[in-house]
Amino acid sequence: MILVTGATGCVGRVVVERLTACGHAVKCLWHWNHEHLAPRKVTIIGGDTRNLASLVEAMEDVDTVVHLASIRRETHTDSFEEVNIGGTRNVVEAMKQTRATRLITVSCLGAETRSAYPFLRSIGKAEEIARASGLNFTVLKSAVVYGPGDWLTAWITGVASALPFVLPLPHAGATRLQPIWVGDLAACVERCLSTRATYRQVVPVGGPQALTLADIAESTLSARGVRRRLVRVPSSLTRQMTRFLARYRGALNEQEMESLSHNRTTETGGVHRVFGFAPARMQAKLDYLRPDSLPPPLPVRFPAWWQAGPPRIRARS
Ligand SMILES: NC(=O)c1ccc[n+]([C@@H]2O[C@H](COP(=O)([O-])OP(=O)(O)OC[C@H]3O[C@@H](n4cnc5c(N)ncnc54)[C@H](OP(=O)(O)O)[C@@H]3O)[C@@H](O)[C@H]2O)c1
Repeated sequence: MILVTGATGCVGRVVVERLTACGHAVKCLWHWNHEHLAPRKVTIIGGDTRNLASLVEAMEDVDTVVHLASIRRETHTDSFEEVNIGGTRNVVEAMKQTRATRLITVSCLGAETRSAYPFLRSIGKAEEIARASGLNFTVLKSAVVYGPGDWLTAWITGVASALPFVLPLPHAGATRLQPIWVGDLAACVERCLSTRATYRQVVPVGGPQALTLADIAESTLSARGVRRRLVRVPSSLTRQMTRFLARYRGALNEQEMESLSHNRTTETGGVHRVFGFAPARMQAKLDYLRPDSLPPPLPVRFPAWWQAGPPRIRARS
């Protein structure tokens, strides 16, 4: 039995789909108090990676853990230290208290314990905990991911739907990223189970092209069917641009925008060499952005008499 933490996230949903499609028995750690539609054919167990006892309980009958639970932003209740670092420490500790021995996690290119960016630093520390665990681990060090629910294309389409005519791009749109389709990343996770070369290794993974942010924006806008003139904002004005865009849906904060100043790429043939398949080119997998494939818009207004706060919106699985 495989336990997946973060099973309702952008990567987790597709990983769960892939594992079940390949015939694996899957248990999902469902973040307590959060409501999502449950995929079919999986066992659901409530828990929180900050709570060791809930993880130990979830790992009964489990031999493999795919650990994907993390946060990209801190809030007044969730810190990088507690969720990204402490959560990974708890996962390792719970595995040691049970019979789970195989750990697969997904980290990010650029995640280092000494990174200047708190998010990347926390993921770097989580990676180090997995490496030092003594377990049979694999860390997939992934390039930026795109697919339904990602942050990158959501940010581009969010800005494009808010601003007419232009799309401002930070750091002159020149930063090189190597987007990997979420379905391909999920395939890598599944193949880790049977690929011995990944045991006790950190494996960098990325898509087949190193694209600039401007290339990515063009492909995203074209898939969405909108035209915007790309405005390449120099790094010296990126902070002002971030403040200006802060009011719009999917806006990135200053740290996130700043972290986009660094190229994050790896060997383009790496996935093929390690996992034996060629990842998709970005233009081929952007159908989810087409206006007719989007879910209906979420309600944004609530009647004045609504006293109990907005209704709980069930995320699509
Ligand atoms: N997306 C990318 O571009 C990208 C690139 C490289 C690496 N990665 C890595 O891939 C992994 C998954 O990323 P993602 O994009 O799928 O993230 P995501 O969409 O933000 O999903 C995060 C998941 O973690 C869960 N979670 C958060 N706090 C939790 C807690 N305390 N206890 C239990 N569950 C908790 C969330 O559940 P709720 O929503 O219910 O809280 C959600 O299911 C992360 O480790 C990330 O660093 C992502």
